[in-house]
Amino acid sequence: MAANHDTVERNIGLMAVLIVIVISIAGLVEILPLFTMTETSKPVAGLKPYTPLQLEGRDIYIREGCNNCHSQMIRALRAETERYGHYSVAGEFVYDHPHLWGSKRTGPDLARVGGRYGDDWHRIHLIDPRAVVPESNMPGFPWLETTALDFSDIEKKMSVMRTLGVPYSDDDISSATAGLANRTELDALVAYLQALGHAMPKR
Ligand code: HEC
Repeated sequence: MAANHDTVERNIGLMAVLIVIVISIAGLVEILPLFTMTETSKPVAGLKPYTPLQLEGRDIYIREGCNNCHSQMIRALRAETERYGHYSVAGEFVYDHPHLWGSKRTGPDLARVGGRYGDDWHRIHLIDPRAVVPESNMPGFPWLETTALDFSDIEKKMSVMRTLGVPYSDDDISSATAGLANRTELDALVAYLQALGHAMPKR
Protein backbone atom coordinates (compact mmCIF):
# COMPACT_ATOMS: atom_id res chain seq x y z
CA MET A 1 0.00 0.00 0.00
CA ALA A 2 2.72 2.43 0.99
CA ALA A 3 4.64 1.44 -2.12
CA ASN A 4 1.60 2.16 -4.33
CA HIS A 5 1.22 5.55 -2.76
CA ASP A 6 4.89 6.24 -3.36
CA THR A 7 4.46 5.37 -7.06
CA VAL A 8 1.54 7.77 -7.46
CA GLU A 9 3.28 10.61 -5.67
CA ARG A 10 6.37 10.26 -7.80
CA ASN A 11 4.50 10.09 -11.10
CA ILE A 12 2.69 13.35 -11.82
CA GLY A 13 1.06 11.99 -15.00
CA LEU A 14 -0.49 9.08 -13.17
CA MET A 15 -1.52 11.37 -10.32
CA ALA A 16 -3.25 13.73 -12.78
CA VAL A 17 -5.20 10.85 -14.34
CA LEU A 18 -6.30 9.55 -10.95
CA ILE A 19 -7.35 13.03 -9.81
CA VAL A 20 -9.49 13.45 -12.92
CA ILE A 21 -11.16 10.08 -12.26
CA VAL A 22 -11.95 10.99 -8.66
CA ILE A 23 -13.36 14.41 -9.59
CA SER A 24 -15.47 12.91 -12.41
CA ILE A 25 -17.06 10.38 -10.09
CA ALA A 26 -17.74 13.05 -7.49
CA GLY A 27 -19.25 15.27 -10.20
CA LEU A 28 -21.49 12.51 -11.57
CA VAL A 29 -22.76 11.71 -8.09
CA GLU A 30 -23.84 15.34 -7.73
CA ILE A 31 -25.14 15.94 -11.25
CA LEU A 32 -26.88 12.71 -12.32
CA PRO A 33 -29.61 12.66 -9.63
CA LEU A 34 -30.75 16.12 -10.81
CA PHE A 35 -31.98 14.57 -14.06
CA THR A 36 -34.36 12.27 -12.22
CA MET A 37 -35.52 14.47 -9.34
CA THR A 38 -39.12 15.68 -9.70
CA GLU A 39 -38.17 19.07 -8.29
CA THR A 40 -35.74 19.84 -11.09
CA SER A 41 -37.13 17.92 -14.05
CA LYS A 42 -40.94 18.30 -13.77
CA PRO A 43 -42.66 21.53 -14.78
CA VAL A 44 -44.42 23.47 -12.02
CA ALA A 45 -48.23 23.29 -12.21
CA GLY A 46 -49.55 25.73 -14.80
CA LEU A 47 -46.33 26.00 -16.82
CA LYS A 48 -47.24 26.31 -20.50
CA PRO A 49 -44.80 25.79 -23.39
CA TYR A 50 -44.07 29.00 -25.30
CA THR A 51 -46.48 29.76 -28.12
CA PRO A 52 -44.85 30.05 -31.56
CA LEU A 53 -44.90 33.86 -31.27
CA GLN A 54 -43.32 33.78 -27.80
CA LEU A 55 -40.71 31.26 -28.94
CA GLU A 56 -39.69 33.58 -31.79
CA GLY A 57 -39.60 36.46 -29.30
CA ARG A 58 -37.26 34.49 -27.10
CA ASP A 59 -34.83 34.08 -29.98
CA ILE A 60 -34.94 37.84 -30.58
CA TYR A 61 -34.25 38.40 -26.88
CA ILE A 62 -31.14 36.23 -27.24
CA ARG A 63 -30.10 37.80 -30.56
CA GLU A 64 -30.31 41.33 -29.15
CA GLY A 65 -28.33 40.32 -26.08
CA CYS A 66 -30.99 41.33 -23.55
CA ASN A 67 -29.59 38.59 -21.32
CA ASN A 68 -26.30 40.48 -21.09
CA CYS A 69 -28.02 43.08 -18.91
CA HIS A 70 -30.97 41.15 -17.47
CA SER A 71 -31.00 37.98 -15.38
CA GLN A 72 -34.05 35.71 -15.15
CA MET A 73 -33.41 34.21 -11.75
CA ILE A 74 -34.77 35.55 -8.49
CA ARG A 75 -32.64 34.40 -5.58
CA ALA A 76 -34.15 33.21 -2.32
CA LEU A 77 -33.11 36.38 -0.47
CA ARG A 78 -35.44 38.81 1.28
CA ALA A 79 -34.31 41.82 -0.73
CA GLU A 80 -35.00 39.98 -3.98
CA THR A 81 -38.37 38.50 -3.09
CA GLU A 82 -39.56 41.88 -1.78
CA ARG A 83 -38.66 43.46 -5.08
CA TYR A 84 -39.44 40.79 -7.66
CA GLY A 85 -41.83 38.31 -6.04
CA HIS A 86 -41.46 34.60 -5.31
CA TYR A 87 -37.93 33.29 -5.81
CA SER A 88 -37.35 31.26 -8.96
CA VAL A 89 -37.80 27.48 -8.79
CA ALA A 90 -36.25 24.91 -11.13
CA GLY A 91 -39.61 23.62 -12.39
CA GLU A 92 -40.32 26.99 -14.04
CA PHE A 93 -37.50 26.50 -16.51
CA VAL A 94 -37.93 22.95 -17.80
CA TYR A 95 -39.17 24.23 -21.18
CA ASP A 96 -36.35 26.78 -21.49
CA HIS A 97 -33.60 25.53 -23.79
CA PRO A 98 -31.21 27.09 -22.99
CA HIS A 99 -32.26 28.77 -19.75
CA LEU A 100 -31.41 32.47 -19.50
CA TRP A 101 -30.78 32.72 -15.76
CA GLY A 102 -27.58 34.73 -15.95
CA SER A 103 -26.22 36.82 -13.11
CA LYS A 104 -25.34 40.13 -14.79
CA ARG A 105 -27.86 42.74 -13.75
CA THR A 106 -27.29 46.08 -15.37
CA GLY A 107 -31.08 46.21 -15.49
CA PRO A 108 -33.62 44.50 -13.22
CA ASP A 109 -34.31 40.78 -13.13
CA LEU A 110 -37.03 39.84 -15.64
CA ALA A 111 -38.08 36.40 -14.36
CA ARG A 112 -41.51 37.73 -13.31
CA VAL A 113 -41.90 40.77 -15.53
CA GLY A 114 -44.86 39.19 -17.39
CA GLY A 115 -48.05 41.10 -16.64
CA ARG A 116 -46.29 43.84 -14.65
CA TYR A 117 -46.77 46.34 -17.48
CA GLY A 118 -49.13 46.53 -20.42
CA ASP A 119 -48.06 45.64 -23.95
CA ASP A 120 -48.02 49.32 -24.90
CA TRP A 121 -45.63 50.16 -22.09
CA HIS A 122 -43.22 47.49 -23.36
CA ARG A 123 -43.50 48.70 -26.94
CA ILE A 124 -42.69 52.29 -26.03
CA HIS A 125 -39.98 51.21 -23.60
CA LEU A 126 -38.24 48.96 -26.12
CA ILE A 127 -38.33 51.57 -28.88
CA ASP A 128 -37.09 54.37 -26.58
CA PRO A 129 -36.61 53.46 -22.89
CA ARG A 130 -36.26 57.10 -21.83
CA ALA A 131 -39.77 57.88 -23.06
CA VAL A 132 -41.14 56.02 -20.01
CA VAL A 133 -38.15 55.80 -17.63
CA PRO A 134 -36.27 59.12 -17.97
CA GLU A 135 -33.20 57.97 -16.01
CA SER A 136 -32.87 54.69 -17.95
CA ASN A 137 -29.56 53.76 -19.53
CA MET A 138 -31.04 50.85 -21.45
CA PRO A 139 -30.43 51.14 -25.21
CA GLY A 140 -33.42 51.51 -27.52
CA PHE A 141 -34.28 48.81 -30.05
CA PRO A 142 -36.34 50.83 -32.56
CA TRP A 143 -35.72 48.49 -35.51
CA LEU A 144 -37.79 45.74 -33.91
CA GLU A 145 -40.95 47.65 -34.67
CA THR A 146 -40.20 47.97 -38.36
CA THR A 147 -38.73 44.51 -38.97
CA ALA A 148 -41.15 41.82 -40.09
CA LEU A 149 -40.88 38.62 -38.09
CA ASP A 150 -39.02 35.92 -39.98
CA PHE A 151 -40.80 32.74 -38.95
CA SER A 152 -39.57 30.47 -41.72
CA ASP A 153 -37.89 28.12 -39.21
CA ILE A 154 -40.62 27.96 -36.58
CA GLU A 155 -41.72 24.37 -37.28
CA LYS A 156 -38.13 23.21 -37.18
CA LYS A 157 -37.51 25.12 -33.94
CA MET A 158 -40.57 23.58 -32.32
CA SER A 159 -39.66 20.05 -33.32
CA VAL A 160 -36.15 20.55 -31.95
CA MET A 161 -37.74 21.76 -28.70
CA ARG A 162 -39.89 18.64 -28.74
CA THR A 163 -36.84 16.39 -28.91
CA LEU A 164 -35.59 18.28 -25.83
CA GLY A 165 -38.78 17.46 -23.93
CA VAL A 166 -41.18 20.34 -24.62
CA PRO A 167 -44.63 18.77 -25.12
CA TYR A 168 -45.61 20.27 -28.50
CA SER A 169 -48.14 18.13 -30.35
CA ASP A 170 -48.08 17.49 -34.11
CA ASP A 171 -51.00 19.91 -34.38
CA ASP A 172 -49.13 22.62 -32.46
CA ILE A 173 -46.29 22.30 -34.93
CA SER A 174 -48.31 22.06 -38.12
CA SER A 175 -50.42 25.09 -37.16
CA ALA A 176 -47.43 27.08 -35.86
CA THR A 177 -47.28 29.63 -38.65
CA ALA A 178 -50.99 30.46 -38.42
CA GLY A 179 -50.75 33.55 -36.21
CA LEU A 180 -47.35 34.75 -37.35
CA ALA A 181 -47.97 36.46 -40.66
CA ASN A 182 -47.76 40.26 -40.57
CA ARG A 183 -46.18 40.24 -37.11
CA THR A 184 -43.15 42.35 -36.28
CA GLU A 185 -40.15 41.37 -34.21
CA LEU A 186 -41.44 43.74 -31.55
CA ASP A 187 -44.76 41.86 -31.34
CA ALA A 188 -42.87 38.61 -30.74
CA LEU A 189 -40.53 40.07 -28.12
CA VAL A 190 -43.37 41.67 -26.16
CA ALA A 191 -45.33 38.40 -26.27
CA TYR A 192 -42.30 36.62 -24.83
CA LEU A 193 -41.78 39.20 -22.07
CA GLN A 194 -45.43 38.96 -21.06
CA ALA A 195 -45.07 35.19 -20.64
CA LEU A 196 -42.17 35.41 -18.19
CA GLY A 197 -43.10 34.07 -14.77
CA HIS A 198 -46.66 33.11 -15.81
CA ALA A 199 -46.66 29.82 -13.90
CA MET A 200 -46.07 31.27 -10.45
CA PRO A 201 -48.56 33.25 -8.36
CA LYS A 202 -48.13 37.02 -8.40
CA ARG A 203 -47.02 38.25 -5.02
C1 HEC B 1 -27.07 47.85 -21.54
C2 HEC B 1 -27.95 47.10 -20.67
C3 HEC B 1 -29.33 46.72 -21.14
C4 HEC B 1 -29.68 46.00 -22.25
C5 HEC B 1 -28.78 45.46 -23.36
C6 HEC B 1 -31.10 45.79 -22.15
N1 HEC B 1 -31.58 46.38 -21.02
FE1 HEC B 1 -33.52 46.31 -20.36
N2 HEC B 1 -33.05 47.52 -18.82
C7 HEC B 1 -31.80 48.02 -18.54
C8 HEC B 1 -31.89 48.94 -17.42
C9 HEC B 1 -30.75 49.71 -16.81
C10 HEC B 1 -33.25 48.98 -17.02
C11 HEC B 1 -33.89 49.83 -15.90
C12 HEC B 1 -34.37 51.16 -16.45
C13 HEC B 1 -35.54 51.02 -17.37
O1 HEC B 1 -36.62 50.53 -16.93
O2 HEC B 1 -35.41 51.34 -18.56
C14 HEC B 1 -33.94 48.07 -17.92
C15 HEC B 1 -35.30 47.78 -17.83
C16 HEC B 1 -35.96 46.82 -18.60
C17 HEC B 1 -37.33 46.40 -18.39
C18 HEC B 1 -38.26 46.87 -17.30
C19 HEC B 1 -38.07 45.97 -16.08
C20 HEC B 1 -38.85 46.37 -14.87
O3 HEC B 1 -39.14 45.47 -14.07
O4 HEC B 1 -39.18 47.55 -14.72
C21 HEC B 1 -37.61 45.49 -19.37
C22 HEC B 1 -38.91 44.74 -19.58
C23 HEC B 1 -36.42 45.35 -20.18
N3 HEC B 1 -35.42 46.17 -19.68
C24 HEC B 1 -36.33 44.53 -21.28
C25 HEC B 1 -35.19 44.46 -22.10
C26 HEC B 1 -35.15 43.72 -23.34
C27 HEC B 1 -36.28 42.89 -23.90
C28 HEC B 1 -33.90 43.91 -23.86
C29 HEC B 1 -33.35 43.41 -25.19
C30 HEC B 1 -34.09 43.79 -26.36
C31 HEC B 1 -33.16 44.74 -22.93
N4 HEC B 1 -33.98 45.06 -21.88
C32 HEC B 1 -31.83 45.10 -23.09
C33 HEC B 1 -30.62 47.68 -19.19
C34 HEC B 1 -30.54 46.96 -20.38
